[in-house]
Amino acid sequence: MNPVKVGLLGLGTVGGGTLNVLTRNAEEIARRAGRGIQISHAAAKSYDPERLLGLDQVEVTDDAFSVVDNPQVEIIIELIGGYSPARELVLKAIENGKHVVTANKALIAMHGNEIFAAAQKQGVTVAFEAAVAGGIPIIKAVREGLAANEIEWIAGIINGTGNFILTEMRDKGRGFDEVLKEAQALGYAEADPTFDVEGIDAAHKLTILGSIAFGIPLQFDKTYTEGITKIERQDVEYANHLGYRIKHLGITRRTDKGIELRVHPTMIPERRLIANVDGVMNAVLVMGDAVGPTLYYGAGAGSEPTASAVVADVVDVVRALTTDPGNRVPHLAFQPDELSDLPILSMQDVETAYYLRMQVVDKPGVVAKIAGILGDAGISIEAIQQKEPPEEETMLPLVMLTHKVVESQMNQAIVQIEALESVAGEVVRIRVEHLK
Ligand code: HSE
Repeated sequence: MNPVKVGLLGLGTVGGGTLNVLTRNAEEIARRAGRGIQISHAAAKSYDPERLLGLDQVEVTDDAFSVVDNPQVEIIIELIGGYSPARELVLKAIENGKHVVTANKALIAMHGNEIFAAAQKQGVTVAFEAAVAGGIPIIKAVREGLAANEIEWIAGIINGTGNFILTEMRDKGRGFDEVLKEAQALGYAEADPTFDVEGIDAAHKLTILGSIAFGIPLQFDKTYTEGITKIERQDVEYANHLGYRIKHLGITRRTDKGIELRVHPTMIPERRLIANVDGVMNAVLVMGDAVGPTLYYGAGAGSEPTASAVVADVVDVVRALTTDPGNRVPHLAFQPDELSDLPILSMQDVETAYYLRMQVVDKPGVVAKIAGILGDAGISIEAIQQKEPPEEETMLPLVMLTHKVVESQMNQAIVQIEALESVAGEVVRIRVEHLK
């Protein structure tokens, strides 16, 4: 049988890796897929031929739409990234009856509902394993491997750049900006690194995880997103002393009131395996009612790790080319007419424990006043520690851990604490999750 012809959009870090893996492992991949897979056409504005294998077999153009419109091509791999023109290219490919493989988390989180509806209508597949946690096959694990379970929650370190920054701050006491520059040089950071440090990239990925876990439409606009830019070295150190680590987590959970979708810095007990996932690595912890906790770990970005997921998707698509569209794995894990309209919880209604840090005047009665405000708000305190003030400082850092409370109640208590004369500046808060 003739090889399947594939059009590749983008020959950058992941596009180059995809061509190289498909060329280097062509024989093994064909044995798995049942047919050869050939990148016959590619589109790129610029590329470095020195680092690409098998380029002599590929017709390269700078016009991506000409690849999408090429009748010889059966599968389009979209590795351009961003919202536009990726959305237009993918929709055109679908309209032309082509299957699509993409690593584009922003595109799927933002326009996935529209894209999957179009694909459904045309009887084609849009595969997106590489969009979440790079080389970790987490989509396949949740969508297929855990299909027996009611998923209870998922918590993931799903942005390598942010994890690298927090790890270096903790282990080497390095400053935020310096570490971010290194992550950019390593090729991990997004083109706009605010997507990494403000949690937007993680929120794209979490939106996708929430949908395949709970069978809800993609709702990026309802995902609570908080970055790591306000994390200070002293909080990283205090967390360590208390037996916790600060990680930038994406968390989605099913509750009686609705679904939580939230990305924020989180303190987690250091004895949890996921607390020890360091550097640019990603990990996703999934709690299923039947299987219990399962943890998936690996490279969340990079050329060949991400290509590994892209190529696996291409193999899946090739295997299913002759399958009736109704018998393929549904895009969002649940049949399209079985998606649920469970509400997404506002952050005000989310319940978590807290770490609080504030600067207080060193005089009798201050701690009692703060404890009184928390007590009146129904917030119970788990631990209080007064720290030594830095040299020549007259204010003391006061660190507290609380039990679980609804966020709106904590917000009210913080307003009252900040209004006390004996408390200076803002109260720093980090949500605490025990991930049991
Ligand atoms: N900027 C992303 C990260 C790349 O740092 O994880 C992979 O999506």
